[in-house]
Amino acid sequence: MSSPESYTWLITGANRGIGLELTRQLLASAAPTHTVIAACRTPDAASDLHALQHDTSGAVKGAVHVVALDVSSEASIRACVPAVQAILGERGLDYLYNNAAVNPTDDSPFDFSYPELLDILQINVGAPALLTQLCLPLIERGRRKVIVNATSGLASIGLDIGAKCTSYSVSKTALNMLTYKQARARPDFIAIVLDPGWVKTAMGGPGAVLEPAESVSGILSVVTRLTTADSGKFFRYNGTQHPW
Ligand SMILES: NC(=O)c1ccc[n+]([C@@H]2O[C@H](COP(=O)([O-])OP(=O)(O)OC[C@H]3O[C@@H](n4cnc5c(N)ncnc54)[C@H](OP(=O)(O)O)[C@@H]3O)[C@@H](O)[C@H]2O)c1
Repeated sequence: MSSPESYTWLITGANRGIGLELTRQLLASAAPTHTVIAACRTPDAASDLHALQHDTSGAVKGAVHVVALDVSSEASIRACVPAVQAILGERGLDYLYNNAAVNPTDDSPFDFSYPELLDILQINVGAPALLTQLCLPLIERGRRKVIVNATSGLASIGLDIGAKCTSYSVSKTALNMLTYKQARARPDFIAIVLDPGWVKTAMGGPGAVLEPAESVSGILSVVTRLTTADSGKFFRYNGTQHPW
């Protein structure tokens, strides 16, 4: 059994960008410590995760395990869960962080590719829905029972952002609704959507306003303090909330 000072995480898309920075900052924490199951589609190429696994500088206080997960593949999602269970053993999953996503195109509602729309929906909402369903017994055994679904301000209708990135925005708004349903279906869980802000990653681009380290330290401050009263909410990385 894990001690009260140690938590377990499954993070998807952990090989780069925000997922990698989440893994880094969690592993750097000494009290509490964290066991991070870092999921990525090509573990052999995940050199930054391997560097964390083999770090001898003392900067890594927690434990990291790398598992294969291609969220565009149902078979891969189904195969990942027993691998996660084997790592956890008797422990439950305290935090499931559905981070992996794609935003390959700035399309519009009257000019989009139908196959691309379906791919985006599969990766950005189908995959987190299925992974979370399959992880249910692991979450039920977790002490925190937190589900974080990475969303975007582009998912907000209330922010009135306009027509850009239509397929991505539709997928993230659907993810928001999924999260609301998860929160209502399981009042004993904490299910939230979280916008990391505009972050300098491959997706955010070099013109973004936040460094990954700043976004992620905010995210972790929000996520590790969540209570059931926060479930079903649409948070930003700094703890404020977006309109739906
Ligand atoms: N950056 C921003 O400004 C911003 C703003 C709002 C919301 N977000 C959200 O924040 C989350 C992280 O974004 P990011 O900026 O870190 O993006 P990123 O730098 O583009 O990284 C995306 C991650 O998702 C993974 N991924 C994509 N397709 C995958 C697949 N089929 N199977 C497994 N993994 C897959 C990538 O893995 P590979 O290396 O294998 O491709 C990578 O690890 C996403 O949910 C995104 O929508 C980001």
